[in-house]
Amino acid sequence: MKTLILFSTRDGQTREIAAFLASELKEQGIYADVINLNRTEEIAWQEYDRVVIGASIRYGHFHPAVDRFVKKHTATLNSLPGAFFSVNLVARKAEKRTPQTNSYTRKFLLNSPWKPAACAVFAGALRYPRYRWYDRFMIRLIMKMTGGETDTRKEVVYTDWSQVASFAREIAQLTRSSRL
Ligand SMILES: Cc1cc2nc3c(=O)[nH]c(=O)nc-3n(C[C@H](O)[C@H](O)[C@H](O)COP(=O)(O)O)c2cc1C
Repeated sequence: MKTLILFSTRDGQTREIAAFLASELKEQGIYADVINLNRTEEIAWQEYDRVVIGASIRYGHFHPAVDRFVKKHTATLNSLPGAFFSVNLVARKAEKRTPQTNSYTRKFLLNSPWKPAACAVFAGALRYPRYRWYDRFMIRLIMKMTGGETDTRKEVVYTDWSQVASFAREIAQLTRSSRL
């Protein structure tokens, strides 16, 4: 049996975190498939004994495909030990990096019919040179208002990889009895 790690990304950081989780799990003898949530047609659920979903925030929202996926597969998701992680820039501040203090994540968990047993919030990446001018302008504005990086030549990765590694250990501990 394997672990299914689904990710929803716009600029690739959530995919990187998902891949990192998979490599950490592998070190513990747990094999994972890492799949883009937007590109899943049929999932061979019978191959998996654990599921992880990770998604990033853009302009205050997860991709609508995340909600759609969770609604469509609620029963299956709730029948497996599960974990959720969110990725955003608000979480670059440590006090906004828990499921309770990160408003996007808190809201997701509150409204989601899927009740994952484990949850984490990771700081994402700021990659000005890769953004289109409008996004660069908007993100810079937000960074200016919140005391963040405003140099648009910069790419900054805020993700704390040791936090991701510790979440992998938590995922490895999930068992059927972890279901809510
Ligand atoms: C256009 C745009 C809008 C964003 N909006 C938010 C936001 O509203 N709140 C936030 O905390 N982070 C926001 N971010 C930061 C992203 O969540 C962060 O860059 C994350 O690493 C993106 O992950 P991804 O590459 O997997 O999509 C935004 C980033 C971009 C490019």
